[in-house]
Amino acid sequence: MTTDPDRGTSGSGLRRRLEQWGAFSVRTRITVAFVLVSAIALFSAGFFVFTIEVRAIERDVRAQIDQELAEFEQLAVRGFDETGSTFDDAASLLRVFMERNVPDDDELLIGYAGDRAAVISPTRYAETYSDPGTGLRDLIHRAVVPLLETGGAERIDDPEHGDVIVTVQPVDAQGSPGALVVVNFLADEYSELDSFIRTYAVLAILMLGAIAVLSSFQAGRLLRPVRTLRETAQSLSASDLSRRIPEQGNDDITDLTRTVNQMFDRLEQAFRTQREFLDDAGHELKTPLTIMSGHLELLDPHDPADVEATRELLLDETDRMSRLVHELILLAKLDRPDFLDPTDVEVAPLTTRVWEKCRALGPRSWVLDAAAETTSCLDEQRITQAMVQLAQNATKHTGEGDEIGIGSALIGDRVAFWVRDTGPGVGPEDKDVIFERFGRGRVAEGDEGFGLGLSIVHGIATAHEGTLTVDDEHPHGARFTLSLPLAGPHRKEDQPWPAS
Ligand SMILES: Nc1ncnc2c1ncn2[C@@H]1O[C@H](COP(=O)(O)OP(=O)(O)O)[C@@H](O)[C@H]1O
Ligand SMILES: [Mg+2]
Repeated sequence: MTTDPDRGTSGSGLRRRLEQWGAFSVRTRITVAFVLVSAIALFSAGFFVFTIEVRAIERDVRAQIDQELAEFEQLAVRGFDETGSTFDDAASLLRVFMERNVPDDDELLIGYAGDRAAVISPTRYAETYSDPGTGLRDLIHRAVVPLLETGGAERIDDPEHGDVIVTVQPVDAQGSPGALVVVNFLADEYSELDSFIRTYAVLAILMLGAIAVLSSFQAGRLLRPVRTLRETAQSLSASDLSRRIPEQGNDDITDLTRTVNQMFDRLEQAFRTQREFLDDAGHELKTPLTIMSGHLELLDPHDPADVEATRELLLDETDRMSRLVHELILLAKLDRPDFLDPTDVEVAPLTTRVWEKCRALGPRSWVLDAAAETTSCLDEQRITQAMVQLAQNATKHTGEGDEIGIGSALIGDRVAFWVRDTGPGVGPEDKDVIFERFGRGRVAEGDEGFGLGLSIVHGIATAHEGTLTVDDEHPHGARFTLSLPLAGPHRKEDQPWPAS
């Protein structure tokens, strides 16, 4: 038995619908959202006005009815006409009331004597009422009869005559029962409101159309840089990273464009560095390999002396190669986030230990310049490795009897480690080159190095968020200084998300 995971619950159906919605372009989605919000606003406004108007109509009608009833009550209580005589029966009371009362245009007054309509006011609807063909008389009569004794109001919703309110006020004039019936026709008022709402609806639809066109146009305009960005990104390849997206305007999309362009800059730079690095590494490895295969080809296997000499040479070359591979691996590791394992370290004992260790590098006059009495957050092993590397260079560039000084000092919120020597120093033209990978200076000629040592030291300093600098010593010599923040490098997971 198989089940379709997309069916089953209505939740997954909704998700699928949302996914389909996500497949539309941002431009379409913005347009639809705009139109929807506008539609809700327009509909709410219309509905609000409609409700208020209906209330106002109903209130007016109610006031009208109340006024008629009050006037009628006044007459009935006083109970006599102008001649001074009291009314004999309900019919005459009603007749007098209607003579004195001028009802509204959309109102009809009917006087009931007993359960029959006896008098009607001469208004617009009187004729319709009297014409039996219209059925209005029967309609009203049916509503009046049950209310004749109790009084009250009834609303009739008739398709032919519209909304009608029938109000009955019973009266008893000297034992003769009757009633005043006030009939209000709402059709006129409502038809006005109807035509207003219809006009509003047509206008609202036209406006929604206009909003759709405008928002689609504007969304397209705003998103154009994003489209250009996508097209440019698609056309870029690793071999050609030189294209950039044109930066226009000064809004946040321009910011995005600028950020992406900067990213391309860094990518291009990284690719170039990597290519150069591979070139250099390949070149450096090729040389010992060529030497080795050359010697092997010329080797006379039957000559023990030749075999011995070649063996020595090959061991030497493989040794060189393995040193190079070792340094390459270290360089590759430098950019990894887990390269460092920083802990709180006492700087003074560390400096002494480094000095002790370096003394074994060669017969020089090793001086412990200073040791900072402080604690710093750093990776002890990596710093020792860097200092030994610097001391090795110093040994290489000095002779017996030269002085090499090692020390550390606290400078503000940073700790500085240095190695200084009394050798020839670094020429000004070399100062930029020597920190680069495979970068070597003038003094290195004829020496075995690869030019990777200082770039490893530089990498260790950078990983600590510190710096590596070189200065001249007087009268001659070089001083290499590692300057590290006391607090140590920021841990990646400690960094808060940047605010958007
Ligand atoms: N103590 C020093 N005195 C003078 N020059 C130095 C010293 N240390 C390094 N250099 C220069 O810096 C260059 C790069 O050093 P490094 O990266 O360790 O490579 P390598 O030692 O393999 O040549 C050296 O070739 C040398 O020219
Ligand atoms: Mg070196």
